[in-house]
Amino acid sequence: MSTQREQFSSKLGFILAAAGSAVGIGNLVGFPVAATKNGGGAFLLIYAAFVLFICLPVMLAEMGLGRRAQRSPYGSYDALGGGTKRWKIAGFLATLTPFMIAIFYMVITVWIFGYLFQSVSGNLSAIAADDYFGKFVNNYSFVFYLAAVTVIVNLILVGGVRSGIERASKILMPALFIMLIMLVIFVLTLDNASTGVQFYLVPDFTQIDSTVVNGALSQAFFSLSLGMGILITYGSYFRRSDDIVTSGKLVALTDTAVAFTAGLMTLPAIFAIYPDTNPETLSDSSVSMIFSFFPKIFLALQASVGYIGASIAASIFFLLMFVAAITSLVSIIEVPTAAIIEKRNISRKRALFFMGIVVTILTIVAATSFGLIPLFSKFVVYAGMDKSVFDVIYDVFYDTILPLNGLLICLFVRARWKRDKLTAELSEGNPNYATSFLEKYVSFAIGTFIPLILALVFINTV
Ligand code: PHE
Repeated sequence: MSTQREQFSSKLGFILAAAGSAVGIGNLVGFPVAATKNGGGAFLLIYAAFVLFICLPVMLAEMGLGRRAQRSPYGSYDALGGGTKRWKIAGFLATLTPFMIAIFYMVITVWIFGYLFQSVSGNLSAIAADDYFGKFVNNYSFVFYLAAVTVIVNLILVGGVRSGIERASKILMPALFIMLIMLVIFVLTLDNASTGVQFYLVPDFTQIDSTVVNGALSQAFFSLSLGMGILITYGSYFRRSDDIVTSGKLVALTDTAVAFTAGLMTLPAIFAIYPDTNPETLSDSSVSMIFSFFPKIFLALQASVGYIGASIAASIFFLLMFVAAITSLVSIIEVPTAAIIEKRNISRKRALFFMGIVVTILTIVAATSFGLIPLFSKFVVYAGMDKSVFDVIYDVFYDTILPLNGLLICLFVRARWKRDKLTAELSEGNPNYATSFLEKYVSFAIGTFIPLILALVFINTV
Protein backbone atom coordinates (compact mmCIF):
# COMPACT_ATOMS: atom_id res chain seq x y z
CA MET A 1 0.00 0.00 0.00
CA SER A 2 1.20 3.44 -0.69
CA THR A 3 -0.17 4.79 2.60
CA GLN A 4 2.11 4.69 5.61
CA ARG A 5 1.89 1.60 7.81
CA GLU A 6 -0.32 2.12 10.82
CA GLN A 7 1.26 2.07 14.28
CA PHE A 8 0.24 1.61 17.88
CA SER A 9 0.01 5.02 19.51
CA SER A 10 2.11 4.08 22.53
CA LYS A 11 4.10 1.40 24.26
CA LEU A 12 1.15 0.76 26.56
CA GLY A 13 -1.14 0.24 23.57
CA PHE A 14 1.26 -2.30 22.13
CA ILE A 15 1.69 -4.10 25.47
CA LEU A 16 -2.05 -4.34 26.07
CA ALA A 17 -2.69 -5.57 22.54
CA ALA A 18 0.06 -8.19 22.73
CA ALA A 19 -1.04 -9.23 26.22
CA GLY A 20 -4.60 -9.41 24.91
CA SER A 21 -3.38 -11.87 22.35
CA ALA A 22 -1.41 -13.90 24.85
CA VAL A 23 -4.07 -14.05 27.55
CA GLY A 24 -6.62 -16.56 26.30
CA ILE A 25 -8.59 -19.54 27.43
CA GLY A 26 -5.30 -21.41 27.71
CA ASN A 27 -4.38 -19.17 30.64
CA LEU A 28 -7.69 -19.29 32.43
CA VAL A 29 -8.41 -22.99 32.47
CA GLY A 30 -5.74 -24.98 30.59
CA PHE A 31 -2.80 -23.74 32.62
CA PRO A 32 -4.30 -24.06 36.15
CA VAL A 33 -5.57 -27.56 35.50
CA ALA A 34 -2.31 -28.70 33.90
CA ALA A 35 -0.39 -27.33 36.90
CA THR A 36 -2.62 -29.05 39.44
CA LYS A 37 -2.44 -32.39 37.69
CA ASN A 38 1.30 -32.28 37.16
CA GLY A 39 2.99 -31.43 40.40
CA GLY A 40 1.43 -28.12 41.48
CA GLY A 41 4.15 -25.66 42.49
CA ALA A 42 6.77 -27.83 40.81
CA PHE A 43 5.01 -27.36 37.48
CA LEU A 44 4.74 -23.62 38.12
CA LEU A 45 8.50 -23.37 38.61
CA ILE A 46 9.30 -25.28 35.44
CA TYR A 47 6.77 -23.24 33.51
CA ALA A 48 8.23 -19.96 34.76
CA ALA A 49 11.72 -21.11 33.79
CA PHE A 50 10.54 -21.93 30.27
CA VAL A 51 8.87 -18.56 29.91
CA LEU A 52 12.04 -16.80 30.94
CA PHE A 53 14.76 -18.87 29.29
CA ILE A 54 13.10 -20.17 26.14
CA CYS A 55 9.97 -18.19 25.30
CA LEU A 56 11.16 -14.67 26.01
CA PRO A 57 14.07 -14.83 23.51
CA VAL A 58 11.77 -16.21 20.80
CA MET A 59 9.25 -13.51 21.61
CA LEU A 60 11.87 -10.76 21.25
CA ALA A 61 13.04 -12.28 17.97
CA GLU A 62 9.50 -12.29 16.56
CA MET A 63 8.85 -8.70 17.58
CA GLY A 64 12.24 -7.52 16.31
CA LEU A 65 11.81 -9.31 13.01
CA GLY A 66 8.40 -7.74 12.42
CA ARG A 67 9.54 -4.26 13.27
CA ARG A 68 12.61 -4.50 11.09
CA ALA A 69 10.69 -5.80 8.08
CA GLN A 70 7.58 -3.64 8.62
CA ARG A 71 5.52 -6.47 7.24
CA SER A 72 3.36 -9.42 8.22
CA PRO A 73 5.26 -12.73 8.62
CA TYR A 74 4.60 -13.56 5.00
CA GLY A 75 6.32 -10.39 3.81
CA SER A 76 8.90 -10.37 6.60
CA TYR A 77 10.49 -13.68 5.67
CA ASP A 78 10.40 -12.66 2.06
CA ALA A 79 11.94 -9.23 2.52
CA LEU A 80 14.65 -10.16 5.03
CA GLY A 81 15.21 -13.61 3.54
CA GLY A 82 16.24 -12.11 0.22
CA GLY A 83 13.24 -13.62 -1.58
CA THR A 84 14.61 -17.16 -1.45
CA LYS A 85 12.12 -19.96 -1.81
CA ARG A 86 13.07 -21.66 1.44
CA TRP A 87 12.23 -18.63 3.56
CA LYS A 88 9.15 -17.90 1.53
CA ILE A 89 7.87 -21.29 2.64
CA ALA A 90 8.58 -20.38 6.27
CA GLY A 91 6.61 -17.16 5.76
CA PHE A 92 3.79 -19.09 4.21
CA LEU A 93 3.68 -21.50 7.17
CA ALA A 94 3.72 -18.60 9.60
CA THR A 95 0.63 -17.24 7.84
CA LEU A 96 -1.25 -20.49 7.30
CA THR A 97 -0.82 -21.51 10.95
CA PRO A 98 -2.69 -18.54 12.46
CA PHE A 99 -5.33 -18.87 9.79
CA MET A 100 -6.05 -22.49 10.72
CA ILE A 101 -5.81 -21.88 14.45
CA ALA A 102 -8.23 -18.96 13.99
CA ILE A 103 -10.84 -21.43 12.71
CA PHE A 104 -10.34 -23.69 15.70
CA TYR A 105 -10.38 -20.80 18.16
CA MET A 106 -13.41 -19.28 16.47
CA VAL A 107 -15.42 -22.45 17.11
CA ILE A 108 -14.57 -22.36 20.81
CA THR A 109 -15.31 -18.63 21.06
CA VAL A 110 -18.68 -19.17 19.41
CA TRP A 111 -19.51 -21.84 21.98
CA ILE A 112 -18.41 -19.55 24.81
CA PHE A 113 -20.68 -16.88 23.46
CA GLY A 114 -23.56 -19.38 23.46
CA TYR A 115 -22.89 -20.32 27.07
CA LEU A 116 -22.59 -16.66 28.02
CA PHE A 117 -25.95 -16.05 26.44
CA GLN A 118 -27.49 -18.94 28.39
CA SER A 119 -25.91 -17.87 31.70
CA VAL A 120 -27.12 -14.30 31.34
CA SER A 121 -30.58 -15.64 30.54
CA GLY A 122 -30.48 -17.58 33.80
CA ASN A 123 -30.52 -21.03 32.18
CA LEU A 124 -27.97 -22.59 34.53
CA SER A 125 -29.77 -25.87 34.98
CA ALA A 126 -29.97 -26.29 31.20
CA ILE A 127 -26.25 -25.82 30.52
CA ALA A 128 -25.33 -27.98 33.52
CA ALA A 129 -27.30 -30.99 32.24
CA ASP A 130 -25.09 -33.97 31.33
CA ASP A 131 -26.11 -34.10 27.72
CA TYR A 132 -26.29 -30.34 27.09
CA PHE A 133 -22.89 -29.85 25.48
CA GLY A 134 -23.37 -32.80 23.13
CA LYS A 135 -26.71 -31.42 22.00
CA PHE A 136 -25.41 -27.87 21.83
CA VAL A 137 -22.56 -28.67 19.42
CA ASN A 138 -24.88 -30.74 17.27
CA ASN A 139 -27.43 -28.06 16.72
CA TYR A 140 -27.47 -25.38 14.06
CA SER A 141 -28.29 -22.66 16.60
CA PHE A 142 -24.53 -22.00 16.75
CA VAL A 143 -24.93 -20.10 13.47
CA PHE A 144 -26.59 -17.30 15.43
CA TYR A 145 -23.67 -17.08 17.85
CA LEU A 146 -21.20 -17.34 14.97
CA ALA A 147 -22.81 -14.34 13.31
CA ALA A 148 -22.52 -12.34 16.54
CA VAL A 149 -18.84 -13.23 17.08
CA THR A 150 -18.00 -12.46 13.43
CA VAL A 151 -19.59 -9.03 13.74
CA ILE A 152 -17.72 -8.23 16.98
CA VAL A 153 -14.32 -9.32 15.64
CA ASN A 154 -14.78 -7.42 12.41
CA LEU A 155 -15.97 -4.29 14.17
CA ILE A 156 -12.70 -4.28 16.07
CA LEU A 157 -10.46 -5.15 13.13
CA VAL A 158 -12.01 -2.75 10.66
CA GLY A 159 -10.89 0.13 12.91
CA GLY A 160 -7.29 -0.83 12.12
CA VAL A 161 -4.36 -0.88 14.51
CA ARG A 162 -4.93 2.24 16.55
CA SER A 163 -8.68 2.78 16.68
CA GLY A 164 -9.48 -0.90 16.40
CA ILE A 165 -7.06 -3.34 18.03
CA GLU A 166 -5.43 -0.88 20.41
CA ARG A 167 -8.63 0.81 21.50
CA ALA A 168 -10.43 -2.49 22.10
CA SER A 169 -7.47 -3.82 24.12
CA LYS A 170 -7.40 -0.69 26.27
CA ILE A 171 -11.01 -1.33 27.27
CA LEU A 172 -11.12 -5.12 27.31
CA MET A 173 -7.86 -5.90 29.12
CA PRO A 174 -8.59 -3.81 32.25
CA ALA A 175 -12.13 -5.29 32.22
CA LEU A 176 -10.59 -8.75 32.09
CA PHE A 177 -8.29 -8.05 35.05
CA ILE A 178 -11.19 -6.70 37.11
CA MET A 179 -13.46 -9.67 36.37
CA LEU A 180 -10.68 -12.12 37.18
CA ILE A 181 -9.93 -10.46 40.51
CA MET A 182 -13.63 -10.33 41.37
CA LEU A 183 -14.01 -14.05 40.74
CA VAL A 184 -10.84 -14.89 42.67
CA ILE A 185 -12.05 -12.97 45.71
CA PHE A 186 -15.46 -14.58 45.44
CA VAL A 187 -14.29 -18.20 45.18
CA LEU A 188 -11.68 -17.77 47.92
CA THR A 189 -14.51 -17.03 50.35
CA LEU A 190 -16.22 -20.37 49.64
CA ASP A 191 -15.81 -23.31 52.02
CA ASN A 192 -12.98 -25.69 51.10
CA ALA A 193 -11.39 -23.16 48.77
CA SER A 194 -8.05 -23.70 50.49
CA THR A 195 -7.95 -27.36 49.43
CA GLY A 196 -7.87 -26.19 45.84
CA VAL A 197 -5.16 -23.65 46.55
CA GLN A 198 -3.09 -26.35 48.20
CA PHE A 199 -3.29 -28.74 45.25
CA TYR A 200 -2.40 -25.88 42.96
CA LEU A 201 0.57 -24.48 44.85
CA VAL A 202 2.24 -27.16 46.96
CA PRO A 203 5.09 -28.60 44.88
CA ASP A 204 5.26 -32.31 44.25
CA PHE A 205 8.44 -33.03 42.34
CA THR A 206 7.69 -36.75 42.09
CA GLN A 207 5.10 -35.92 39.43
CA ILE A 208 7.66 -34.39 37.10
CA ASP A 209 8.70 -36.55 34.16
CA SER A 210 9.60 -35.87 30.56
CA THR A 211 5.96 -35.71 29.45
CA VAL A 212 5.22 -33.07 32.06
CA VAL A 213 8.27 -31.03 31.04
CA ASN A 214 7.31 -31.27 27.39
CA GLY A 215 3.74 -30.26 28.24
CA ALA A 216 4.90 -27.26 30.26
CA LEU A 217 6.99 -26.00 27.36
CA SER A 218 4.18 -26.42 24.84
CA GLN A 219 1.78 -24.69 27.19
CA ALA A 220 4.15 -21.74 27.71
CA PHE A 221 4.84 -21.44 24.00
CA PHE A 222 1.17 -21.48 23.08
CA SER A 223 0.18 -19.21 25.93
CA LEU A 224 2.57 -16.48 24.83
CA SER A 225 1.14 -16.65 21.29
CA LEU A 226 4.50 -17.71 19.83
CA GLY A 227 4.92 -19.42 16.48
CA MET A 228 1.66 -17.93 15.24
CA GLY A 229 3.09 -14.90 13.43
CA ILE A 230 1.11 -12.65 15.76
CA LEU A 231 4.07 -10.98 17.44
CA ILE A 232 5.80 -10.47 14.09
CA THR A 233 2.70 -8.67 12.85
CA TYR A 234 2.21 -6.62 16.02
CA GLY A 235 5.95 -5.87 16.05
CA SER A 236 5.55 -4.37 12.58
CA TYR A 237 3.10 -1.86 14.08
CA PHE A 238 5.49 -0.87 16.88
CA ARG A 239 7.18 2.53 16.66
CA ARG A 240 10.92 2.60 16.05
CA SER A 241 11.51 4.74 19.11
CA ASP A 242 9.74 2.30 21.44
CA ASP A 243 11.44 -0.27 23.59
CA ILE A 244 10.72 -3.84 22.42
CA VAL A 245 12.76 -5.49 25.15
CA THR A 246 10.94 -3.95 28.11
CA SER A 247 7.59 -4.36 26.35
CA GLY A 248 8.28 -8.02 25.63
CA LYS A 249 9.20 -8.64 29.26
CA LEU A 250 5.98 -6.97 30.39
CA VAL A 251 3.86 -8.98 27.98
CA ALA A 252 5.43 -12.24 29.22
CA LEU A 253 4.98 -11.13 32.81
CA THR A 254 1.34 -10.15 32.32
CA ASP A 255 0.51 -13.38 30.58
CA THR A 256 2.17 -15.47 33.28
CA ALA A 257 0.63 -13.44 36.09
CA VAL A 258 -2.85 -13.86 34.63
CA ALA A 259 -2.32 -17.61 34.21
CA PHE A 260 -1.07 -17.86 37.79
CA THR A 261 -3.96 -15.78 39.17
CA ALA A 262 -6.49 -17.79 37.19
CA GLY A 263 -5.41 -20.82 39.20
CA LEU A 264 -6.66 -19.03 42.30
CA MET A 265 -10.08 -18.89 40.65
CA THR A 266 -10.28 -22.24 38.89
CA LEU A 267 -8.98 -24.63 41.56
CA PRO A 268 -10.76 -23.22 44.63
CA ALA A 269 -14.01 -23.25 42.62
CA ILE A 270 -13.56 -26.92 41.75
CA PHE A 271 -12.67 -27.98 45.29
CA ALA A 272 -15.33 -25.83 46.94
CA ILE A 273 -17.99 -27.77 45.10
CA TYR A 274 -16.26 -31.15 44.83
CA PRO A 275 -13.99 -31.37 47.88
CA ASP A 276 -13.11 -35.01 47.23
CA THR A 277 -11.86 -34.51 43.69
CA ASN A 278 -8.68 -36.36 42.89
CA PRO A 279 -6.68 -33.81 40.86
CA GLU A 280 -5.46 -36.55 38.56
CA THR A 281 -8.99 -37.22 37.34
CA LEU A 282 -9.50 -33.64 36.11
CA SER A 283 -9.85 -33.49 32.35
CA ASP A 284 -6.86 -32.45 30.26
CA SER A 285 -9.18 -30.79 27.82
CA SER A 286 -10.01 -27.12 28.41
CA VAL A 287 -13.06 -27.63 26.21
CA SER A 288 -14.60 -30.25 28.46
CA MET A 289 -13.65 -28.30 31.60
CA ILE A 290 -15.27 -25.09 30.35
CA PHE A 291 -18.38 -26.54 28.77
CA SER A 292 -19.16 -29.61 30.84
CA PHE A 293 -17.51 -29.25 34.22
CA PHE A 294 -17.86 -25.56 35.09
CA PRO A 295 -21.60 -25.25 34.39
CA LYS A 296 -22.13 -28.01 36.98
CA ILE A 297 -20.08 -26.03 39.48
CA PHE A 298 -22.22 -22.95 38.94
CA LEU A 299 -25.41 -24.94 39.30
CA ALA A 300 -24.22 -26.50 42.55
CA LEU A 301 -23.19 -23.04 43.76
CA GLN A 302 -26.88 -22.16 43.97
CA ALA A 303 -27.06 -24.06 47.24
CA SER A 304 -24.76 -21.58 48.94
CA VAL A 305 -25.26 -18.28 47.07
CA GLY A 306 -28.75 -18.69 45.61
CA TYR A 307 -29.97 -18.70 42.03
CA ILE A 308 -29.20 -15.06 41.32
CA GLY A 309 -25.74 -15.23 42.88
CA ALA A 310 -24.83 -18.36 40.92
CA SER A 311 -26.15 -16.91 37.67
CA ILE A 312 -24.13 -13.75 38.16
CA ALA A 313 -20.97 -15.76 38.91
CA ALA A 314 -21.54 -17.91 35.80
CA SER A 315 -22.20 -14.86 33.65
CA ILE A 316 -19.01 -13.13 34.82
CA PHE A 317 -17.05 -16.35 34.27
CA PHE A 318 -18.24 -16.76 30.68
CA LEU A 319 -17.83 -13.05 29.99
CA LEU A 320 -14.25 -13.31 31.24
CA MET A 321 -13.66 -16.28 28.93
CA PHE A 322 -15.27 -14.40 26.08
CA VAL A 323 -13.15 -11.28 26.53
CA ALA A 324 -9.99 -13.38 26.76
CA ALA A 325 -10.97 -15.25 23.61
CA ILE A 326 -11.97 -12.21 21.55
CA THR A 327 -8.70 -10.35 22.08
CA SER A 328 -6.81 -13.49 21.04
CA LEU A 329 -9.04 -14.06 18.05
CA VAL A 330 -8.56 -10.50 16.84
CA SER A 331 -4.78 -10.88 16.96
CA ILE A 332 -4.75 -14.14 15.09
CA ILE A 333 -7.10 -13.01 12.32
CA GLU A 334 -5.00 -9.87 11.90
CA VAL A 335 -2.06 -11.97 10.63
CA PRO A 336 -3.59 -13.35 7.41
CA THR A 337 -5.53 -10.10 7.00
CA ALA A 338 -2.31 -8.07 7.05
CA ALA A 339 -0.76 -10.52 4.59
CA ILE A 340 -3.67 -10.10 2.16
CA ILE A 341 -3.57 -6.30 2.45
CA GLU A 342 0.14 -6.30 1.60
CA LYS A 343 0.11 -8.92 -1.08
CA ARG A 344 -2.98 -7.79 -2.97
CA ASN A 345 -2.56 -4.11 -2.20
CA ILE A 346 -6.21 -3.78 -1.21
CA SER A 347 -7.97 -1.90 1.56
CA ARG A 348 -8.42 -3.31 5.06
CA LYS A 349 -12.19 -3.40 4.53
CA ARG A 350 -11.92 -5.53 1.45
CA ALA A 351 -9.39 -7.86 3.02
CA LEU A 352 -11.64 -8.31 6.06
CA PHE A 353 -14.64 -8.93 3.87
CA PHE A 354 -12.79 -11.69 2.08
CA MET A 355 -11.44 -13.13 5.34
CA GLY A 356 -14.91 -12.94 6.89
CA ILE A 357 -16.38 -15.13 4.18
CA VAL A 358 -13.60 -17.71 4.18
CA VAL A 359 -13.37 -17.90 7.98
CA THR A 360 -17.15 -18.23 8.32
CA ILE A 361 -17.33 -21.08 5.84
CA LEU A 362 -14.44 -22.96 7.43
CA THR A 363 -15.80 -22.33 10.93
CA ILE A 364 -19.08 -23.89 9.87
CA VAL A 365 -17.14 -26.86 8.47
CA ALA A 366 -15.25 -27.29 11.75
CA ALA A 367 -18.29 -26.64 13.96
CA THR A 368 -20.41 -29.18 12.12
CA SER A 369 -17.69 -31.81 12.37
CA PHE A 370 -19.01 -33.24 15.64
CA GLY A 371 -21.73 -35.27 13.94
CA LEU A 372 -23.95 -32.70 12.27
CA ILE A 373 -22.28 -33.32 8.93
CA PRO A 374 -20.85 -36.87 8.89
CA LEU A 375 -18.36 -36.16 6.12
CA PHE A 376 -16.60 -33.60 8.33
CA SER A 377 -16.71 -35.74 11.44
CA LYS A 378 -14.90 -38.62 9.79
CA PHE A 379 -12.58 -36.36 7.90
CA VAL A 380 -9.64 -38.71 8.13
CA VAL A 381 -9.44 -42.13 9.65
CA TYR A 382 -6.15 -43.22 11.07
CA ALA A 383 -5.05 -45.77 13.63
CA GLY A 384 -8.65 -46.90 13.87
CA MET A 385 -9.81 -43.47 15.00
CA ASP A 386 -12.12 -41.14 13.17
CA LYS A 387 -10.72 -37.66 13.19
CA SER A 388 -13.03 -34.73 12.63
CA VAL A 389 -11.96 -31.58 10.79
CA PHE A 390 -11.72 -29.93 14.21
CA ASP A 391 -9.40 -32.65 15.56
CA VAL A 392 -7.20 -32.51 12.48
CA ILE A 393 -6.70 -28.75 12.79
CA TYR A 394 -5.87 -29.21 16.46
CA ASP A 395 -3.42 -32.06 15.92
CA VAL A 396 -1.63 -30.58 12.95
CA PHE A 397 -1.45 -26.90 13.78
CA TYR A 398 -1.62 -26.63 17.53
CA ASP A 399 0.44 -29.58 18.45
CA THR A 400 2.89 -29.90 15.62
CA ILE A 401 3.38 -26.78 13.56
CA LEU A 402 3.69 -24.28 16.43
CA PRO A 403 7.08 -25.52 17.67
CA LEU A 404 8.20 -25.89 14.05
CA ASN A 405 7.40 -22.23 13.39
CA GLY A 406 9.38 -21.30 16.51
CA LEU A 407 12.27 -23.39 15.28
CA LEU A 408 12.18 -21.68 11.88
CA ILE A 409 12.34 -18.24 13.49
CA CYS A 410 15.47 -19.23 15.41
CA LEU A 411 17.09 -20.69 12.32
CA PHE A 412 16.18 -17.61 10.33
CA VAL A 413 17.76 -15.31 12.89
CA ARG A 414 20.87 -17.41 13.09
CA ALA A 415 21.45 -18.37 9.49
CA ARG A 416 19.90 -15.65 7.41
CA TRP A 417 19.01 -12.41 9.13
CA LYS A 418 21.95 -12.74 11.57
CA ARG A 419 21.99 -12.24 15.27
CA ASP A 420 23.79 -8.90 15.32
CA LYS A 421 20.96 -7.48 13.22
CA LEU A 422 18.50 -8.69 15.83
CA THR A 423 20.60 -7.06 18.54
CA ALA A 424 20.71 -3.82 16.56
CA GLU A 425 16.94 -3.87 16.12
CA LEU A 426 16.28 -4.58 19.78
CA SER A 427 18.67 -1.83 20.80
CA GLU A 428 16.55 0.77 19.08
CA GLY A 429 14.46 2.21 21.84
CA ASN A 430 16.70 0.48 24.38
CA PRO A 431 20.36 1.51 23.83
CA ASN A 432 21.58 -0.41 26.88
CA TYR A 433 20.42 -3.70 25.45
CA ALA A 434 23.43 -4.14 23.16
CA THR A 435 25.81 -4.43 26.10
CA SER A 436 23.48 -6.23 28.49
CA PHE A 437 23.67 -9.74 29.83
CA LEU A 438 20.25 -10.40 28.31
CA GLU A 439 21.63 -9.65 24.84
CA LYS A 440 24.43 -12.19 25.30
CA TYR A 441 21.97 -14.75 26.53
CA VAL A 442 19.43 -14.18 23.74
CA SER A 443 22.03 -14.24 20.98
CA PHE A 444 23.57 -17.41 22.33
CA ALA A 445 20.36 -19.26 23.15
CA ILE A 446 18.52 -18.39 19.93
CA GLY A 447 21.38 -19.75 17.87
CA THR A 448 22.00 -22.92 19.86
CA PHE A 449 19.87 -24.75 22.38
CA ILE A 450 16.46 -23.13 21.88
CA PRO A 451 16.14 -24.38 18.28
CA LEU A 452 17.45 -27.73 19.44
CA ILE A 453 14.81 -28.02 22.14
CA LEU A 454 12.06 -26.91 19.78
CA ALA A 455 13.25 -29.47 17.24
CA LEU A 456 13.00 -32.17 19.91
CA VAL A 457 9.47 -31.10 20.82
CA PHE A 458 8.55 -31.12 17.14
CA ILE A 459 10.01 -34.57 16.52
CA ASN A 460 8.38 -35.87 19.68
CA THR A 461 4.89 -34.84 18.55
CA VAL A 462 5.34 -36.06 14.98
N1 PHE B 1 -2.33 -17.35 24.02
C1 PHE B 1 -3.65 -17.81 23.72
C2 PHE B 1 -4.21 -18.63 24.86
O1 PHE B 1 -3.58 -18.80 25.86
C3 PHE B 1 -3.54 -18.65 22.52
C4 PHE B 1 -4.02 -18.00 21.32
C5 PHE B 1 -3.61 -16.75 20.96
C6 PHE B 1 -4.88 -18.66 20.55
C7 PHE B 1 -4.10 -16.18 19.85
C8 PHE B 1 -5.38 -18.10 19.47
C9 PHE B 1 -5.00 -16.85 19.12
O2 PHE B 1 -5.34 -19.13 24.78
